[in-house]
Amino acid sequence: MVLEITKIGNPVLREVCAEVSPERLASAELQGFIDDLIETKRHANGAGIAAPQVGKPWRIFVVEVKDNPRYPYKPETDLTVCVNPTVTFLTDERYLNFEGCLSIPDLRGKVARCPHVRIEALDRHGVPFSREVRGITAGTFQHEDDHLNGILFPDRADSRSFSTWAEFALRYEADIVESVKEIVSEWGE
Ligand code: NI
Repeated sequence: MVLEITKIGNPVLREVCAEVSPERLASAELQGFIDDLIETKRHANGAGIAAPQVGKPWRIFVVEVKDNPRYPYKPETDLTVCVNPTVTFLTDERYLNFEGCLSIPDLRGKVARCPHVRIEALDRHGVPFSREVRGITAGTFQHEDDHLNGILFPDRADSRSFSTWAEFALRYEADIVESVKEIVSEWGE
């Protein structure tokens, strides 16, 4: 089922989300919720989506990039469900990239992200996993993890970089595609 996406101004987007216990994660309710979260992400063409973006202050997000019309220049990454994640920065380096968010219609802005992180989380079946993620994909995971702490990308952006999607496409997208290619060639994703 496609769920309604919460928009900036909704207090749930500012909550520090609660951990999900293994028992609760195994429940039919939570498994159905994760299916709906994935379906909602795909329906909205998001690169990722976090539980508070559909009104639930739980520490769950999903990331998946495949043939994405919102972000045609993003490297593809397979569907990953993260429950109770922690993100550890593995380098002091940062890169700048334009972000957008399903909860903030028609706004993009430049955010500095760490290009090499370790994600530790439970998968949807409660099995712990650890994965290193690099480059643009690392930024996507950081964006989704921020949602679990009530942080939205404009909190981290230079407000002078704010742009509508149309202005972004007109003025910045060509340059960003080049800089994304450089990040991908340097960091691998
Ligand atoms: Ni977002």
